[in-house]
Amino acid sequence: MSRLLVTGGAGFIGSNFVHHVVEHTDHTVTVLDKLTYAGNLASLEGLPAERVSFVQGDIADAELVDGLFRDADAVVHYAAESHNDNSLNDPRPFLDTNIVGTYTLLEAARRHDVRLHHISTDEVYGDLELDDPQRFTEQTPYNPSSPYSSTKAGSDLLVRAWVRSFGVRATISNCSNNYGPFQHVEKFIPRQITGVLRGVRPRLYGTGENVRDWIHADDHSSAVLTILDKGELGQTYLIGADGEQSNKDVVELILELMGQERDAYDHVADRPGHDLRYAIDSTRLRTELGWQPRYRDFRSGLAATIEWYRDNESWWEGAKDATEAFYASKGQ
Ligand code: NAD
Ligand code: DAU
Repeated sequence: MSRLLVTGGAGFIGSNFVHHVVEHTDHTVTVLDKLTYAGNLASLEGLPAERVSFVQGDIADAELVDGLFRDADAVVHYAAESHNDNSLNDPRPFLDTNIVGTYTLLEAARRHDVRLHHISTDEVYGDLELDDPQRFTEQTPYNPSSPYSSTKAGSDLLVRAWVRSFGVRATISNCSNNYGPFQHVEKFIPRQITGVLRGVRPRLYGTGENVRDWIHADDHSSAVLTILDKGELGQTYLIGADGEQSNKDVVELILELMGQERDAYDHVADRPGHDLRYAIDSTRLRTELGWQPRYRDFRSGLAATIEWYRDNESWWEGAKDATEAFYASKGQ
């Protein structure tokens, strides 16, 4: 049994991870989360108090972080500013949390010799052409496009430097686009589902030909546990489930699953610098560590996600109006 410190555990993927850990291991979890607009304590409701505790605070608060590392066997670092559209509007919080916050955790890991797993994104590799036969691998050069992805790339490089220079015991994973319960309504899939539930047509940026490589958040969680358990220190693992879909196909599937006409959506202003395609080759994780995804059918995973948003309106309704006001100001 280990004591895990999970940063960003009240966010989308972090809260899915905490649920996964409680269900599949006997670890205890302390969540450290600032509860920004993206954090929601309701995502942790119902978890056993003897297994999960919560601390509200900033990962860039060195004194707070130091005390928490003292009592942890391992740290899983999810906390981040995570939304590309926000980073185009105001990059500063992305530097503060993704760069300075990660630096603060690395210094604590170094002082206390605590094992750290850093959660990152496939966006650090930039984008691919639609017809490129290559997918991202651990050897792909970094080439981030947005303020968000460049700060994630910076945080990855900090982790690598702290491993090499100071012997910090860390691993990194770069995962593709996640879907599932507890995702903020600013993100593509929940935005469209909750819009349709309110009678609003989906909004597709630009032509909608952009491709994302979808993985269920629960599969991301099992991959992270596998890396914590069996990953080689200092190494990077790519996490993906062979789930490439164009945005247009995803919107049409959401509409079909929700009983609407498949063409009942609108094209809106494109995202500046919009990455065309992401695609992950997760061979290393599968062959070296033996991980496999459980959600292999996107259609049924998406249908379950739609049901979750239908059944949990109280979880998302508070954030919906402010999110849509932001998009409206950008013509999106
Ligand atoms: P999210 O925005 O839903 O959640 C982020 C959480 O971090 C929130 O609970 C927020 O309150 C917390 N947080 C933000 N700043 C903080 C700070 N300074 N101190 C403490 N807590 C803070 O994000 P997400 O989509 O769950 O992403 C989690 C991680 O996974 C991020 O590192 C992201 O880069 C990475 N990632 C996300 C995806 C995806 O598809 N969403 C894919 C690959 C990797
Ligand atoms: O690839 C991993 C990344 O996936 C993570 O690192 C990020 O944290 C996460 O937000 C996600 O980034 P994207 O920019 O791909 O996700 P987003 O949900 O914002 O958009 C997905 C695609 O849908 C993207 O091509 C933009 C498009 N889009 C988005 C919205 C909100 C639309 O067409 N319409 C929309 O309303």
